[in-house]
Amino acid sequence: MQFEGYRSEDLQKSGIILDVINVTKKFGELVALNNVSFKVRKGEILAIIGPNGAGKTTLINIISGILKPTAGRLIYKGVDITNIRPNKRAKMGIARTFQVPIYIKDLRAVDSVAVPLTWKLKSLDLAREKAIELLKRVGFSDPYKMGRDLTLAEEKRLEIARALALEPELLLLDEPAAGLRPDEIEELKGLILDIAKEEDTTVILIEHLIKFVMDICSRAIVLNFGNKIAEGSPEEVVSNPDVITAYLGGAV
Ligand SMILES: Nc1ncnc2c1ncn2[C@@H]1O[C@H](COP(=O)(O)OP(=O)(O)OP(=O)(O)O)[C@@H](O)[C@H]1O
Ligand SMILES: [Mg+2]
Repeated sequence: MQFEGYRSEDLQKSGIILDVINVTKKFGELVALNNVSFKVRKGEILAIIGPNGAGKTTLINIISGILKPTAGRLIYKGVDITNIRPNKRAKMGIARTFQVPIYIKDLRAVDSVAVPLTWKLKSLDLAREKAIELLKRVGFSDPYKMGRDLTLAEEKRLEIARALALEPELLLLDEPAAGLRPDEIEELKGLILDIAKEEDTTVILIEHLIKFVMDICSRAIVLNFGNKIAEGSPEEVVSNPDVITAYLGGAV
């Protein structure tokens, strides 16, 4: 389904991969997202930051299709995906990681990555081969490690490898740096930059603290209590008085 005004020539010219239009999400009385609109440009790393409960994960859930918005629409590559199911969106090139990683404790890392690959490759051996390649790609050293023995940093890398298995055009990362040590965060930043550059993947990076994303994102959007309160370069956003107020009492 082509959305009027979003013909593919226009899209190519404008370079917009995702258009989030007036999205509202209510959970009963609680307005988790209030009329949020923004565009994502192809190839960029867009950071979405905001304090706890700002609506960041809700937004990722709406883009990946796990949640339906109460109001508003999503246009991905010229197609209205608002009513399209998550698995179909994944096939269209939208992949995500989870804030609390979903990996299976009784599976070896290689098999956690191989599972999403089997639907495409139709052979477990081929899926495992590709899974090992992907784990190497994200700097995961022992593909045969059991899920239950993984460190937090390994869980995060495994999550990214699982998302890359879908060969995404739009990769949604939900707080990939949370809980990592400073040296692990630096490595992760390098990996995200590499993925954006080498695979030509557009990245939406959710983060609590803007300082983690300052040097890798092209633009940042700030959410607070479900409202978009700022949008711009990382420098513009950190010096915005509304953003400073939203983070008052905590670090930006
Ligand atoms: N399934 C749900 N049912 C009811 N309320 C929800 C649900 N999911 C989220 N909320 C509420 O919506 C608001 C936004 O939550 P969300 O998880 O999107 O915030 P967040 O910005 O990701 O926060 P954090 O930084 O803590 O991960 C919160 O007040 C939260 O309690
Ligand atoms: Mg969250």
